Amino acid sequence: MAESMQGMKRTCRCAELDDNMVGKQLTLMGWCHKQRDLGGLVFITLRDRSGEVQLLIDETSSQEVQQKAAQIRSEYVVAATGTLRKRESANPNMKTGQVELLVSELRVLSESQTPPFYIEENIDTKESLRLKYRYLDLRRPDMQSKMMLRHRITKLTRDYFDQAGFLEIETPMLIKSTPEGARDYLVPSRVFPGRFFALPQSPQLYKQLLMLSGYDRYMQIARCFRDEDLRADRQPEFTQIDLEMAFVDMEDVISVNEGYLKRLFSEVMDIEIELPLPRITWQEAMERYGSDKPDLRIGMELKDISDLVADSSFKVFADAISNGGSVRMIAVPGGSSLSRKEIDSLGEYVKTYRAKGLAWLTVEEKPRGSILKFVDTDLVQQLAERAGAIAGDLLLIVADKNEVVYDALGQLRCEVARRMNMYQPDDYRLLWVTDFPLLEHDEEAGRYVAMHHPFTSPKHEDIALLETDPGAVRAQAYDIILNGTELGGGSIRIHDQQLQQKMFSLLGFTDKQAWSRFGYLLEAFKYGVPPHGGLAFGLDRLVMLLTDSESIRDVIAFPKVQNSSCLMTDAPGDVDEAQLEELGLILSQLTKQAAEGSEEN
Ligand code: AMO
Ligand code: AMP
Repeated sequence: MAESMQGMKRTCRCAELDDNMVGKQLTLMGWCHKQRDLGGLVFITLRDRSGEVQLLIDETSSQEVQQKAAQIRSEYVVAATGTLRKRESANPNMKTGQVELLVSELRVLSESQTPPFYIEENIDTKESLRLKYRYLDLRRPDMQSKMMLRHRITKLTRDYFDQAGFLEIETPMLIKSTPEGARDYLVPSRVFPGRFFALPQSPQLYKQLLMLSGYDRYMQIARCFRDEDLRADRQPEFTQIDLEMAFVDMEDVISVNEGYLKRLFSEVMDIEIELPLPRITWQEAMERYGSDKPDLRIGMELKDISDLVADSSFKVFADAISNGGSVRMIAVPGGSSLSRKEIDSLGEYVKTYRAKGLAWLTVEEKPRGSILKFVDTDLVQQLAERAGAIAGDLLLIVADKNEVVYDALGQLRCEVARRMNMYQPDDYRLLWVTDFPLLEHDEEAGRYVAMHHPFTSPKHEDIALLETDPGAVRAQAYDIILNGTELGGGSIRIHDQQLQQKMFSLLGFTDKQAWSRFGYLLEAFKYGVPPHGGLAFGLDRLVMLLTDSESIRDVIAFPKVQNSSCLMTDAPGDVDEAQLEELGLILSQLTKQAAEGSEEN
């Protein structure tokens, strides 16, 4: 039976004890981590978010206390008053291992069933079980330390931007859709049947409007919603550190954010990062790393070998080049010791990135490889020289359209490094990638789409190309990358109404469509717009990387799983007919059947 805590007041948390408390009477409350009953002597390890402390109940405690202590099980919530004393044999593995509380009063504030898994550091429990009982999972010390670190990062973020003159301003959650490239979550309107709000994919347009309103430095810890396919570093709802500045160019935005990252790494990780951070253009990132988010902990840069193999009798190489593609390679240090099976599995790996094959050659006196029929020892030597490879290295080659070559080799480079343990987990490498293309051609839709978003400004020197060669226009856009993950991205925005309209038309909107969707922005642009730009970091990704977590789920208190559902609450759930009716919604027969089907699963 649950007892009341009336008359008892917690002195401090379990592990917030200091030397001058020894000899004093204290009251501690928390969860029983473990109870050991040695007959006449009961030890209870009491836990809360600060850590653990040992309670001792011996024959000096009253009968009642001894009886209660004997019945306490794991995860019972307990309140104990007693005298703190030095332990006879200290436990060096425990923060409070020098002391124990000799209990004079003991209450069970709440009992607990046996939990479905142990509340322990680093458990191997299946993630689905942990997520179903997330409230218990969150009780574990490693989850608690992640949540506490997340809090410190958020707090430091607010402090830093406050000191840099930013104002935190909230923007609405129920909005008119803002395109960031993903599907919107929609909310039906009751008042306007058949009309919908969207949940924001980001506060993009609101923060731009705030610039126009004169709040020249804005920031927000903003919730964002995107209905997209989930991966380890994506959630349908996530948090951005979102900011915008007026009267700035790219250098100003980068410099404020470098200051932020420096302070973050120094205070949270005790790591001094050197400024300015390295920068490369998108083009260079693709050519050297095959990726617009290069992991700089890894070497093995891509090398174009098209010129060396253009006349090759290997048709695959010659064809790729004559079709406007290329042949490129990476050199894996010491890779010639990989087994045939391991090399074949790398061949399978690149196929998932649309490469049709992976040719390989070892750099040895007598080279081995899959294309020896077509290359002589001389050519192998030339290839090795181009890669700066030495004896014992392995050359891995892909021929295809540039897009496929970059993607396949870029991913392969990271995969090889993972498999061969080529980097230290505590190495943090930040860089900026700049000069992204403004537009991407969407083959399926047969039109251009914005690479970042439609409000990103082209580079001044490329504006003329908008008419002649839109695909070649570079944007004033920049991403910040940490160890191969895109931490954040931003741009200098278009602040000219005509240019913005031009951009919408390039993206395939008629004037009418543009005004109906973004009329409020185009209208606002008639009333004095300062040049402006900004950036948003993914807070969850930041915390994930700084806590060396495998997934952003580990740093979000209540995350969703792969299919965007919540295992703990079972959301999304169904609603009453009456609620639907009120919203003017009718589920189709097909939807009903699908819903019934998903319930049975
Ligand atoms: P962008 O779409 O690049 O830019 O998003 C900025 C950062 O947010 C994080 N992020 C995500 N994190 C978790 N789950 C997701 N589904 C997810 N999607 C994005 C990433 C990403 O770098 N409005 C612009 C910013 C700007 O231009 O100022 C924007 O949202 O870390
Ligand atoms: P094949 O002659 O088809 O057996 O191919 C010989 C080698 O070339 C094999 O190792 C294939 O994986 C590789 N290969 C095939 N297509 C490509 C390609 N597009 N790029 C690089 N290597 C390839």
